[in-house]
Amino acid sequence: MPDPSIQAPGDAIVRITTTNICGSDLHMYEGRSTVEAGKVLGHENMGVVEAVGAGVSRISVGDRVSVPFNIACGTCRNCVSGWTSFCLRTNPTDGVDGAAYGYANMGPYDGGQAQLLRVPYADFNLLELPPGTEHEHDFAMLSDIFPTGWHGTELAGMRPGDRVAVFGAGPVGLMAAHSAMIRGASEVFVVDKERDRLDLAAKIGATPVDFSRADPAEQILDATGGRGADCGVEAVGYQAHDPSGDEHPELVLDNLVKVVRSTGGIGVVGVYVPSDPGAATAAAKEGRVAFDYGTFFSKGQQMGTGQCPVMRYNRHLRDLIVTGRAQPSFLVSHELPLDRAAEGYERFDRRDAGWTKVLLKP
Ligand SMILES: NC(=O)c1ccc[n+]([C@@H]2O[C@H](COP(=O)([O-])OP(=O)(O)OC[C@H]3O[C@@H](n4cnc5c(N)ncnc54)[C@H](O)[C@@H]3O)[C@@H](O)[C@H]2O)c1
Ligand SMILES: [Zn+2]
Ligand SMILES: [Zn+2]
Repeated sequence: MPDPSIQAPGDAIVRITTTNICGSDLHMYEGRSTVEAGKVLGHENMGVVEAVGAGVSRISVGDRVSVPFNIACGTCRNCVSGWTSFCLRTNPTDGVDGAAYGYANMGPYDGGQAQLLRVPYADFNLLELPPGTEHEHDFAMLSDIFPTGWHGTELAGMRPGDRVAVFGAGPVGLMAAHSAMIRGASEVFVVDKERDRLDLAAKIGATPVDFSRADPAEQILDATGGRGADCGVEAVGYQAHDPSGDEHPELVLDNLVKVVRSTGGIGVVGVYVPSDPGAATAAAKEGRVAFDYGTFFSKGQQMGTGQCPVMRYNRHLRDLIVTGRAQPSFLVSHELPLDRAAEGYERFDRRDAGWTKVLLKP
């Protein structure tokens, strides 16, 4: 691919030092999206500013930066109210608000699984990091999954002392668990069936729940004297499956409705899509998910959804890393050169044991 260049006065070019493979990339990798051929993937990017356009004044060449996965203008109605994940200006796709790097339906932007990345509205979007190389792998989690996990607990209305049930022990679920601990949860349950991922959850002090052994909601209800969780985070998405691997897009939502107490909150950061060409049923192909809405209503629960507005949290989370209160790199398992990205995708996609988070080094 040709190197990106400055196209607008507000652009910057970032030389990528670390770029991650995300569970969201797997939706495209598995053909479960309408991504166009030739797109450069990669929305979890950090690096050093290589060039800036004439209109960039806050950010300078040589700055070490984290690039939020959202591409936001900073001045539209949604950006001004803090919802940079639903920017009204940056995505020309009909009916979709919010843009991202290297992603299906998220605008015409290439991603950062490359040597160089073009960043629009650089003064607004880029987060400055301390110079040098310290905390590189912790800071690499600031562009998406650490803020996204935190956002899950925020959408769930989590308060200190809450018991939190997190579904999914992939990178996003583990970041939600890490966030819940930092925010003062009394107990955090993490549900998955992958042993290596559940072991990481246990390592940070959460209680692992293996859904291949028994109904996970029942397991949590049993462990809490029937009270269940005060709130929950969905970190799985529309490819949620049963222990045999068959997909049921409503499965995790049903589990959460069951296990969260009445009036409790559910934060859904796992992705659901309006059209899924690879879905098993006609309804699911159109993004229709028949979850237990009746019980959800009668329990008076709350639900928040959507892409994370990374800028709402990334400064605070950066400072928690700098002071040692947060260490999100605990889930990093592999660091590969960019030319081994194909292998990284293959093994992360298979959930091979020990492949919990893959970082690419261009
Ligand atoms: N909202 C956002 O801004 C945002 C940002 C990043 C990622 N995401 C989404 O978050 C989701 C998780 O991302 P990830 O990188 O952790 O992906 P991942 O695919 O690595 O992890 C998902 C995990 O869910 C587990 N799982 C599957 N079925 C389950 C079930 N029934 N119960 C419990 N666990 C189950 C899988 O075993 C896997 O470990 C994806 O849908 C991704 O697209 C959303
Ligand atoms: Zn991501
Ligand atoms: Zn905007």
